[in-house]
Amino acid sequence: MSIQVAPSVLAADFANLQSEIEMLNASEANFIHVDIMDGLFVPNISFGIPVTEAIHQHAQKPLDVHLMIQDPDRYLKAFRDCGAAIISVHLEACPHLHRTLQAIRELGAKAGVAINPHTPVELLSEVAGEIDLVCMMSVNPGFGGQKFIENTFEKVKRLRSLLDSKGSQALIEIDGGVNLDNASRLKECGADVLVAGSFVFKSKDPQNTISQLRSI
Ligand code: DX5
Ligand code: ZN
Repeated sequence: MSIQVAPSVLAADFANLQSEIEMLNASEANFIHVDIMDGLFVPNISFGIPVTEAIHQHAQKPLDVHLMIQDPDRYLKAFRDCGAAIISVHLEACPHLHRTLQAIRELGAKAGVAINPHTPVELLSEVAGEIDLVCMMSVNPGFGGQKFIENTFEKVKRLRSLLDSKGSQALIEIDGGVNLDNASRLKECGADVLVAGSFVFKSKDPQNTISQLRSI
């Protein structure tokens, strides 16, 4: 299977969001990754529901919404209503993760779980059947443009074997510091989807960069 790519609009030009989304529509991107930060779960605030809705109005690709927020249960419906196809919540923010994942699926969205760099993949073993996507953080969440954490390669392998042992079809997505230096190895280790923010949007030709990532 060829690798899928989810450019993160966190690195886009917010003053020209419509043209950035149109660029993604015309590209080989598979998803549009939307990073929601509340200034509590992570030490940064990005944007919220109205901006996600505006992105959705122009997007021709599914929105992959990454909620870096405390108590995400309060906002699942709002993000589904404004166009999320995938909703990922952080394991570290969900005391009743099983219930939260069921709630996401009941809303008709794909259920994702994001895990921080320090969180062992084994913590997903009892909910593997409830998950459509695991967003494995390869940086500490909160900011774009950070350095990729090398331990991620081994961690992806462990997650792949865990999901296989549970018969789970969940996609493995890698989020943070992804570029052409680490993409192929991530794919070899078992990644299905690569999120890329700065590497795409700060490049000279973002569409071509997306194509390059797709064709590793
Ligand atoms: C980090 C976000 C990422 C971020 C990735 O907290 O979850 O999605 O936008 O950006 P880069 O690719 O620049 O590391
Ligand atoms: Zn993200």
